[in-house]
Parts: sequence; C-alpha cells; structure tokens
Amino acid sequence: MGKTIRFGVSLDSDLLTKFDEHCEERSYQTRSEAIRDLIRNTLVEREWDSADGEQAGTLTLVYDHHKSGLSQRLTEIQHDAHDVIQSSLHVHLDHHNCLEVIILKGDAEIIKALGQKLISTKGVKHGNLALTTTGKGLI
Ligand code: NI
Repeated sequence: MGKTIRFGVSLDSDLLTKFDEHCEERSYQTRSEAIRDLIRNTLVEREWDSADGEQAGTLTLVYDHHKSGLSQRLTEIQHDAHDVIQSSLHVHLDHHNCLEVIILKGDAEIIKALGQKLISTKGVKHGNLALTTTGKGLI
C-alpha cells in the first residue's frame, strides 16, 4: 500500500451537489471514500475490459424448475465448467421458482462465456452476472 496523497479536483458546483446527494444516499461518510470506490469500480471495469487473467464474479439465475429439462440442462452446463465454479446456492423461492447464486473464479473470458450461456438458456426468467475482482490488483 502506497502513501496517502491529497489532490484537488475542480468541479461545477451543480455536479458537486449531485455527487454529495449520491454520497448521502449511499451512506458515504466522506467524499474521499466515495471517490475511492468510484476509482476502484473503474479499475475493475478496466480489468474486465482487458479480460486478462483471473477474475471473480457472481451469477444469479431465476428459473421455473417445472420447465421440462431446464434444471438438468443448467446442471450439465455447470458440471462442464466445474473448474471456475467455486460454490453455488439454490433457494426454492416458491412452488415454481428457484433462485441460484453461483460464485465464479477463473479466466475472465470463460466466466463471461459461462454467464452468458446460463443466462441465455431457454426458460431462465432472469439472470445477472456481476463482475468483480479477486482483489489482488486493488488497494
Ligand atoms: Ni428450487
């Protein structure tokens, strides 16, 4: 970890007002912490844009397990990708709907392709791949 550097930022006052509203809505104690998070988010996006090396993410799926063959298809896809699936959680939301959260760590391109394959599987009602980081490249 490097030393802390202070730097000045010139901003339009209306933009700063909107940013302060954002900080309050998100419960940031200081502007500095909010800015640090914005920078980290940008750096994580950059890691994903370059799709370089090992990354981490979570995939959420909602589907009706009564749909013919769907549960089996989703399980088969996941078994084919067991190398990048660290863990998964299955919750029976109601009589029909299941929610699955799959934790992924591995090659960025493989994670993105797997996410898209599962989300686009016929019968999946909603899917979301949240791309994050292993944290190794961040402070
Ligand atoms: Ni279920």
